Amino acid sequence: MSNKNIIYLFLLGLSCISLTVPNQSPMAKLMHRMLTYLKNEKQRIEADKPRQKFPKEFEKINTATVTPGKKLVPEHREYVENFRSALAAYYNTDLPRREQFNRLVSTCIKCHERECPGPVETINSQKIP
Ligand code: HEC
Repeated sequence: MSNKNIIYLFLLGLSCISLTVPNQSPMAKLMHRMLTYLKNEKQRIEADKPRQKFPKEFEKINTATVTPGKKLVPEHREYVENFRSALAAYYNTDLPRREQFNRLVSTCIKCHERECPGPVETINSQKIP
């Protein structure tokens, strides 16, 4: 292999590392998109802008694989159901938007307190006072 090719492969390797966090599970990746969704939605509420398109991909919370060794609690399904119904309620435009949004954020936290306490504070800070 020429020196030029070796340098090229090296650069390719570096760019992959900076673009994706290695070894993140499908569930963790989905969760990061869920957090981004909350952040965007919070800004949109504060600017009085319409809701983002219904995030259908969040249904993957039912099937996405978690990091090996991660323990899900027996109430996991119940937490998922609470999250899904709060998301549906948030898209029911007859209900008060801020309140429904904060309820949605609470369903993330309810599960996280038991299954994954790390991001609780970050998620909680998405609530709108
Ligand atoms: C039913 C339980 C449950 C609900 C509801 C839930 N999460 Fe999670 N979340 C998890 C689990 C379990 C993990 C760890 C995933 C893994 O490591 O594979 C996680 C991981 C995360 C992570 C960190 C990913 C990482 O490892 O870097 C963030 C951020 C996150 N969730 C945000 C959210 C947000 C925002 C919501 C609500 C919109 C939410 N979660 C709702 C269970 C839940």
